[in-house]
Order: sequence, then structure tokens, then C-alpha cells
Amino acid sequence: VLDGYASFYEMELQQSPSAFYDTVAALMTTDHQAVVDQLSIDPYELQRIRKVVIIGCGTSYHAGLVGRYLIEHLARIPVEVDVASEYRYRDPILDADTLVVGISQSGESLETITALRECVASGARTIAITNVIGSQLSRVADGVLYTRAGPEISVASTKTHLAQVGALGMLAIYLGELKGVLYPDEASRRRQELIAMAELLRATLDRQSQWRAGIGDYLSREHFFFIGRNLLYPVAMEGALKMKELSYIAAEAYPAGELKHGPIAMLDEQAVVVALLGDDRLHEKMLGNIEEVRARGATILAVATDGDAGPDELADIVLRVPKSEALWSPLLMVLPLQVMAGWMAQARGYDLDKPRNLAKTVTVE
Ligand code: F6R
Repeated sequence: VLDGYASFYEMELQQSPSAFYDTVAALMTTDHQAVVDQLSIDPYELQRIRKVVIIGCGTSYHAGLVGRYLIEHLARIPVEVDVASEYRYRDPILDADTLVVGISQSGESLETITALRECVASGARTIAITNVIGSQLSRVADGVLYTRAGPEISVASTKTHLAQVGALGMLAIYLGELKGVLYPDEASRRRQELIAMAELLRATLDRQSQWRAGIGDYLSREHFFFIGRNLLYPVAMEGALKMKELSYIAAEAYPAGELKHGPIAMLDEQAVVVALLGDDRLHEKMLGNIEEVRARGATILAVATDGDAGPDELADIVLRVPKSEALWSPLLMVLPLQVMAGWMAQARGYDLDKPRNLAKTVTVE
């Protein structure tokens, strides 16, 4: 039936590279200039932006958290990220120099729509990032960046998350260019880098049988921690969310440095710690954090890049992803986590496409 896949979840996960590619390609010309006709916000107005606020729910919120690092790094604009249902009730401080980005795959999550509508009323500039043309969110916002992931049927989001991060990357580069943080040639190099990630996404997904070897022992475990730092922390959050919603087990995400401030007390031989080890300036610190959890007897499942010998002696198992520019590594690191969450649910005999208690689109508050 589904192209040979047993579930939409597996099929859609496999479609991530094209969802990502199509999204990013539509936002640039063939010579890597920005295509912004759907933003509907004057570039001069965007140049004036002094704060960006990103709101969304669930997986879209996690994409927003990755987006924060991208925008702060590439455009040097301070970014706030909040879940839509919280942001709205914070009595937000907004003005015309604030850009609010509402992210929603469906474009129909009520909380994101109502929060964004209030931002419009407060005079902020607004952009929707959504996968559905003509959705409510796209109509509320001043401008739209569409993700072009195609329909997503599985309740748990996979490919749309990659597409959202791609769209946020393109927005970050554009804002960086407008702000003069990136010279035009740097901006086009960044766009080239970003679109080239589609190939690496494909190469990463081709490693599933490699990952599967050795992981079988852990699929029945009941208690998982996900740790990461910097832009891999939101990836840890997304990994934990996927596992919770598909396998109904306790999975918590922590910034690796925060473990010792409390949650480390929970660790024992029963726990599996999934450690996301980036190829970046925090690599050594992260290894130190892995040593801390190892000393508590926890099983360590590291996700690391090719050629990184750091986790070899420390981890019980290492899932490898290709090397990439550290800034774009969240795109690759999330894939083994999405895949693993699917395997865990399958091992328990659960429906991958329709987890219990969940709806694809949440239209109540
Ligand atoms: C998780 C998941 C949900 C959605 C959330 C927001 O896999 O699918 O957490 O991400 O309900 O939905 P959208 O993006 O449609 O607003």
C-alpha cells in the first residue's frame, strides 16, 4: 500500500529529504538569492526589527527553538521562543519593531492562531510558517513562508519538522543579510550549505540498518533521558517528545549541563541516556556530562558524527550521522531519534500513525 511502508510515519520520515529540499529550494533562486515574495513585509521594515518572537506547539515549538539559535547566530537579533498557549497569556510586550513567527504544520492549531492574531493586533510584524496553503494561520499573518512537505498523515510529525527548520534557516539567512551581518556572498554560501543538507539527510536515513544493529537490546527499556547542549538541546526535546507520544514511556529532555542540578538523582542502571554529541565547541563539555551519567550506571546511547572518537570508550552504543556544519547539525541528529521512536513503538505493538489520546490537529484550548 503505502509505497511499501507499513505506516505513514515510516513513509513520511523517509520523505524528509525531499520535504526539506522542496521547502528550501522554493525560498531561493538558482544562484542562491533569497525569494521573499510571500513575506509581504517591506525589507526596510524587516531591517528595523529588533526582536524576534517564535511561537508554536509541540514539534513546531521545537523547530522554533532550533530557529532561535539560527537567527541569533546568523542575524544577531535577540529571539524569544514560547509555546503558543503560554505566550498569549504572558501579556506580551510587542511593537512594530518585533517580528513574530508563528509555526504550525497544519496552520490550524487554535493556540497558535489565537496567539498570532493577538500579536497582529499589538502592531507587531508577523509571519506564518505552515505546511497548508490557505490555512487559518497563513491568513492571520502579514506574510507566509510555506513548508513544502506534502500532506502529513501520521499524527506524529517528522518531515514537516525538517521542513520547518529549513524555512527558519532561510529566514535567518535573509534577516542576516538585511541586517548587514552577512555579506551577500556569505548569505548565498549559507543558502548553498543549507540546500546541500538535503543530500546529507538522505545519506543519514540510509544508515538505519547500521543503527538498528545493537539497539534491539534497548527497545524494551522504560526510562529514557535525552541530553544535548546549545542547538542540540531542542533536538533532545524533540527526541523525547517522539518517544513519549509513540511509545508512551517516560522520556525527559535536559540541557546536559542542567542534569547535575537535580535530575541526575533519578539515574540508575534502568535508565538509558541518549546523548547528542555535536562536533562543536561544546564537544568536550558534553563528554564530561556523559561521564557524569556513566558514573551513575546509566546506559549511554550516543548520537555522534562520523570520525568523532569521543564517545567510543564512554557509550554503550554510538549511532553515527554524517559530519556537517555544526549550525545545521540539528537536521541530521533528529533523524535517528525519530527512527528510534518508531522502532520502540513497533516493538511494543503500537500503532505508529495514531498514538492513543492524540489528534493530528488540536483545535481546542
Ligand atoms: C508531535 C506533534 C504535535 C504537533 C503540535 C502542533 O509529533 O505532531 O506536537 O507538532 O500539535 O501542530 P501544528 O504544527 O499543526 O500546529
